[in-house]
Amino acid sequence: MASSLVRGSIRALDGYVPGEQPAAGARVVKLNTNENPYPPSPRVMEAVRAVPAHALQRYPRPMADEFRAAASRVLGVAPDALLAGNGSDDVLTIATRTFLAPGDSLAYPEPTYSLYPVLAHLQDARIVTVPWGEGWSLPTAALVATHARAIYLANPNAPSGTAVAVAAVEELARAFDGVLLVDEAYADFGDDNCLDLTRRLPNVVVSRTMSKSYSLAGLRFGFAVAHPDLVREMAKVKDSYNCDAISIAAATAAIEDQEYARGTWALVRAERERLTRALEGLGWQVLPSHANFVLATVPGERGAAARVYAELKARGVLVRYFNLPGLDDKVRVTVGTPADTDALLAALRQLER
Ligand SMILES: Cc1ncc(COP(=O)(O)O)c(C=O)c1O
Repeated sequence: MASSLVRGSIRALDGYVPGEQPAAGARVVKLNTNENPYPPSPRVMEAVRAVPAHALQRYPRPMADEFRAAASRVLGVAPDALLAGNGSDDVLTIATRTFLAPGDSLAYPEPTYSLYPVLAHLQDARIVTVPWGEGWSLPTAALVATHARAIYLANPNAPSGTAVAVAAVEELARAFDGVLLVDEAYADFGDDNCLDLTRRLPNVVVSRTMSKSYSLAGLRFGFAVAHPDLVREMAKVKDSYNCDAISIAAATAAIEDQEYARGTWALVRAERERLTRALEGLGWQVLPSHANFVLATVPGERGAAARVYAELKARGVLVRYFNLPGLDDKVRVTVGTPADTDALLAALRQLER
């Protein structure tokens, strides 16, 4: 068998399963992978069209300097505190390879982003999971007691949408002597973020993505913010040219157009409230979300959530269902446009009949 040629830990691994992407042109209401329902800033498309042929002929700047300069201005962090990646999944891969040696432990509160265990296994590292505290609070003492090499904390968390306060993250970072990576993929839809901690604490790494709050999931661009010493080490691990010339130009234009991006965040937040109230009106329990999705418990007998997921899909509405302990009575719904919410609610009313 050819697979006997493969490392044992890879053969034993269940790879990450991304949410389904319908065929191009399929008419679906897509509320399953937390994309922004609004297109990117028009300035992004202008920047892409303006990329000259010689920028494709030559290699791009290895550290995406144009993006670092723009992000530094917008976010108020030093350019050498920024590391760009091919999506934040690339940033998470780089971090895992930088901070975890084979046999080291990665700890994280569970449930959370299901890529973390995959990254740890790829590195032949061990995972130590800790349940979230009461009301999705940070289980600080239990995380510190793991004595792991690194802790990954999605904040806001996926798939719950809940967030922990920056003060609680700081307390954890101060009590822990490994690296605390705060995955802020959804922070722009919330009220606060941990960027300031990266200026004050040498063991905090923040990762960000352009996929959600800048409407660029198809482009692949993310970045880390950390102490320049850590950025220098992570830069040794990344592919030399992990961001291409087009993505650097587009991501730079996107982060520079704060007014546009912030406009989409406000629309998403307002729609999140409307979606939450509407689902509660149907008797669903919805966790208070700080992200661009909500996690909702579907009332009814066992299997109700799986059935709702399947029946919505049959009606052309995609949401996410996780057949996992603690999540199998829930569905995760991305916040879409008002028309997307209307279509979801119309489909749910049909199911009630
Ligand atoms: C918590 C979390 N982190 C990171 C990512 C990855 O985002 P990117 O598109 O930047 O790879 C996701 C995507 O769903 C996510 O939910």
